[in-house]
Amino acid sequence: MPYLSFELLDHSRPILVFGRDGQVGRALQVASKNLKVPLVFLCRADCDLASETSIIEALNQYQPQAIINAAAYTDVDKAESEYDLAFAVNAKAPELMARYIANMAHGIFVHYSTDYVFADTKQGPYLETDSVGPFDNLNIYGQSKLDGERAIEEAFNLARDFGHDSYADKCARYYILRTSWVYGDGDNFILKMLRMANQHKNLKVIVDQVGAPTSAKWLAELGLQIVDSRVQSGIYHAVPDGETSLYNLIIFAIQSAMSSSQEIKFTTNNVSQVLAVDYPLLTKRPYNSRLSNNKLKNNFSKIAFFAKYPCWQEQVEEYVKNICHTL
Ligand SMILES: NC(=O)c1ccc[n+]([C@@H]2O[C@H](COP(=O)([O-])OP(=O)(O)OC[C@H]3O[C@@H](n4cnc5c(N)ncnc54)[C@H](OP(=O)(O)O)[C@@H]3O)[C@@H](O)[C@H]2O)c1
Repeated sequence: MPYLSFELLDHSRPILVFGRDGQVGRALQVASKNLKVPLVFLCRADCDLASETSIIEALNQYQPQAIINAAAYTDVDKAESEYDLAFAVNAKAPELMARYIANMAHGIFVHYSTDYVFADTKQGPYLETDSVGPFDNLNIYGQSKLDGERAIEEAFNLARDFGHDSYADKCARYYILRTSWVYGDGDNFILKMLRMANQHKNLKVIVDQVGAPTSAKWLAELGLQIVDSRVQSGIYHAVPDGETSLYNLIIFAIQSAMSSSQEIKFTTNNVSQVLAVDYPLLTKRPYNSRLSNNKLKNNFSKIAFFAKYPCWQEQVEEYVKNICHTL
């Protein structure tokens, strides 16, 4: 990763990372290994994000100047029956984090969100300016993540409205990184499908849901770059270039596995296409998960990290190469 100085951060206070053991959280641990700035990673046992008291205690204990929130209630199907828990973790917890950072000079809050805040109102890639929802058409996970986004924006808007003009250049900033189809060190769709393919199971994969698979490693590096940046606050769509269907993603992943390792014996012959409507999904998911990454590319264009913007194929190839031996 290009050099990160974090020169505007007070190095006596840590960057606090929630979600230590998640896919992005683990990738953040790897990406931050040699950084000359203190980071503290919290897991569920350290701080239960369903408990307001636990969050406030953690904030008071560590007094961070920056927070990266990689934690979330991500079980889309279970969220349908665990409404309160999903909203506590995905909406209330980020609200408390945002309120803590928003009033702090040079404070920074990086939060990950999802394409599930959109409900198939458009054919092409969604822009950050496109309307979200409609709320009632989102699944519970999408609703809770959207509530989280709104709470973060409100906390920062309030702080700006009540802040003194002379502090404008020291204003705290927030970044909501909406992403899609995340894979990394942890349970994910690509790994699950490759394992099933390796057992020569017949796979039916949805062909009419389209989006961009996004590497947790890249999202982690992006999060750290953003903490070190001076870019405008706001929502950013954080996905690699290109798009694919879930079916074509799995075909590509299997082909990558076969070309990465002589040991891999499975083929794409056992994989067939299915329409979402014919697939027994517990919870409704959007057909269109396409997110336009133009704003991210334009606003961060001066940062070396973006000199070569990745496409989804190169990220998936690298990931598959690294996990082949675990299949
Ligand atoms: N995965 C995707 O396909 C996807 C797609 C779009 C957006 N996103 C967003 O990307 C971000 C990172 O996702 P990910 O794939 O890295 O998620 P993940 O692997 O499911 O990790 C989520 C983390 O949150 C923690 N967590 C959940 N409930 C908690 C609680 N009550 N208290 C403390 N910690 C709690 C989990 O702790 P445990 O380890 O103890 O369970 C886990 O470490 C999230 O904001 C997610 O909404 C993900």
